[in-house]
Amino acid sequence: MKSLKDTYTLHNDVRIPIVGFGTWQTPDGEVAIESVLAAIAAGYRHIDTAAGYGNEASVGIAVKKNGIPREEIFITSKLQNTAHEYEATMEAFEDTMAKLDLSYLDLYLIHWPNPLKYRDRWKEANAGSWRAMEKLYKADKIRAIGISNFRPHHIDALLETAEIVPMVNQIRLCPGDTQDETVSYCRERNILLEAYSPLGTGLIFDSPEVKELAEKYGKSIAQICLRWSLQRGYLPLPKSVTPNRIVENGELFDFELSLDDVEKLAVLVNACGIGKDPDTIQF
Ligand SMILES: NC(=O)c1ccc[n+]([C@@H]2O[C@H](COP(=O)([O-])OP(=O)(O)OC[C@H]3O[C@@H](n4cnc5c(N)ncnc54)[C@H](OP(=O)(O)O)[C@@H]3O)[C@@H](O)[C@H]2O)c1
Repeated sequence: MKSLKDTYTLHNDVRIPIVGFGTWQTPDGEVAIESVLAAIAAGYRHIDTAAGYGNEASVGIAVKKNGIPREEIFITSKLQNTAHEYEATMEAFEDTMAKLDLSYLDLYLIHWPNPLKYRDRWKEANAGSWRAMEKLYKADKIRAIGISNFRPHHIDALLETAEIVPMVNQIRLCPGDTQDETVSYCRERNILLEAYSPLGTGLIFDSPEVKELAEKYGKSIAQICLRWSLQRGYLPLPKSVTPNRIVENGELFDFELSLDDVEKLAVLVNACGIGKDPDTIQF
């Protein structure tokens, strides 16, 4: 039987555990430390944080405190929206590593392709950030580099100057929000899709259709959604600060959704709404 320790393989042969533990909106300090410790105890081996979440230091503390060797835990962080371009990216990475207090990072992502600060020059700003990330990757400070919230036109622009094709694109993927064009584009280029907000940041719990499926399979709504995410070939990143939910969200390997039900969930428009347009975000 598969487990949280199973992996996908990125195009540079780095292995990445198939479920990541989300930490957006998890308060820094005790809550972040305890929830990451609970996740690792429950078997998660992949933690997703970001400079913008303000909790990198707590993630680092939990990773060092839990007793599992560092190499067995996969850690992702992300470049904040105010630190694009080459020099700022280099500084932001140093800051992230100082906060995490770790010697290397497993995955570093450009968080958003077109933040407000760089709207008049986002292509050049991303090209500079990517050059910095390629350098850090080649210097073995990061094991894999990627992007987040990038749509095909953002990736096309990045690839004009990139030496290395991103290994990951982390985008919003949940029932009814399947971003088909971006997904096909990434699959054609062997870019792994990570599914953020796999529970629609909590919105999915109000869906009567998913509730019905949960009853049919004798599983929770969260487990149905996360299993759906895995069966679609995504890497889901569920977030919780609640110990029993953290455990529940990792128990996904003793059942399978029918293909019909996978399809039904894919087209459940309105279940979780639609993600933000990265070209018009106000941050
Ligand atoms: N790259 C990006 O731009 C981006 C954007 C958004 C998210 N992300 C990443 O993706 C992760 C997940 O996305 P998300 O934080 O939007 O939310 P999510 O994982 O879709 O949903 C989290 C919400 O669902 C609740 N929940 C979790 N498991 C549950 C369960 N089994 N039963 C009932 N309620 C449950 C949580 O409550 P409690 O915590 O109170 O238990 C929380 O309110 C983030 O934490 C972050 O790491 C990335």
